[in-house]
Amino acid sequence: MKYLLSLLLVPSQVLSAALHPGHPIAPGPDGKYTLKAEGIEAKFIAYSAAITNLVVNDRNGVPRDIILGYDNASLYPVDPNHPDYGAVPGRYTNRIANHTYVVDGERFFTEANDGNGTLHSGLNGWSRRTWNVSELTTNSITFTIRDEGDSSEGFPGLVLGSVTHTIEAGSWTTKLKAEAKTHDTPIMLTTHPYWNLDAFQNPATDLILNHTLSLPYGKRMIGIDGTTQSTGALPSVPKGSVNDFWSKPKQIGASMSDPAWVGNCGSEYGCSGYNNQWIVDRDVLDVTASKPIATLSSDFSGIKWDLYSDQAGVVIYSCYWMGGK
Ligand SMILES: *[C@@H]1O[C@H](CO)[C@@H](O)[C@H](O)[C@H]1NC(C)=O
Ligand SMILES: *[C@@H]1O[C@H](CO)[C@@H](O)[C@H](O)[C@H]1NC(C)=O
Ligand SMILES: *[C@@H]1O[C@H](CO)[C@@H](O)[C@H](O)[C@H]1NC(C)=O
Ligand SMILES: *[C@@H]1O[C@H](CO)[C@@H](O)[C@H](O)[C@H]1NC(C)=O
Ligand SMILES: *[C@@H]1O[C@H](CO)[C@@H](O)[C@H](O)[C@H]1NC(C)=O
Repeated sequence: MKYLLSLLLVPSQVLSAALHPGHPIAPGPDGKYTLKAEGIEAKFIAYSAAITNLVVNDRNGVPRDIILGYDNASLYPVDPNHPDYGAVPGRYTNRIANHTYVVDGERFFTEANDGNGTLHSGLNGWSRRTWNVSELTTNSITFTIRDEGDSSEGFPGLVLGSVTHTIEAGSWTTKLKAEAKTHDTPIMLTTHPYWNLDAFQNPATDLILNHTLSLPYGKRMIGIDGTTQSTGALPSVPKGSVNDFWSKPKQIGASMSDPAWVGNCGSEYGCSGYNNQWIVDRDVLDVTASKPIATLSSDFSGIKWDLYSDQAGVVIYSCYWMGGK
């Protein structure tokens, strides 16, 4: 799908293999790199270039870790369900229908690891590899990846990727870069965090159904079939429908009693709720004005998260498949 292609070309850069010994910041006993700024602390790991923790103060000044992740870096590669907690999937994130695409008139076949489709480039994507750490300061870390052609089935040509995470007062910023060195290839990158703005400390609920979501530009979606594969259609989102978060902010569980909730994210898979992509429909002035493309908030903690991005889509997943174990 052309709309999803995001080819970023950046100047070559020197990718150093590892930090020199004795660098002031090394991973802790949990295998994580800790970055800090005023009122915020975050942890990252080289496996999948992931964020593992994000701690901010709630409305009462209590620190809350609002991103889901394991306590120890060693647990990320071994979870057989591989939920991509906090990861950077690549070189092509999300789904390719029928595990095939055409670039420059040539058809390529990728690994079918999601029904008949490809998810996150297959089982050797960037979120299943240990990246190199090339730069580290007290508040930023850069991970790099050398992705040889066909190391994920059906993705030609060498790609050099890098991810820089930066923590500043009240914010976490991610800069994603990828350079196709030898062949045109689909590239689409994202971060893949799971949020619970109550940090699982809300005595009334462990779930996020009471979080309020706003997608102010989300008036169209990527159309999907019953197996969550994109169809090529770009349906509009009617006001008041299950997928309407544009006309006004809405609790994530507010439409649970709407019959359309059932199967909304894949009827043949029985996926109810959200695992869908909204198009960020905005003109270039809105991009430069940097208004949030999504806002998530919780009344319990008083924590609000604004998402800013220059990309054309945002995926919301309400964790239908997650058993909470
Ligand atoms: C994290 O896991 C590694 C590998 O199993 C282990 O050596 C280390 O002690 C663990 N660290 C903590 C803090 O549990
Ligand atoms: C699965 O994908 C293959 C390869 O693109 C295609 O030939 C086939 O028709 C697809 N099967 C289904 C059931 O969609
Ligand atoms: C990390 O750097 C080494 C040395 O340059 C290189 O061989 C390896 O492919 C790199 N790993 C990744 C994931 O890019
Ligand atoms: C969630 O929100 C609904 C509707 O506002 C409310 O009735 C319900 O009590 C809330 N539940 C929790 C656990 O906060
Ligand atoms: C996938 O293949 C099936 C069967 O050939 C076809 O009906 C469907 O349109 C294809 N999907 C896409 C997005 O091309």
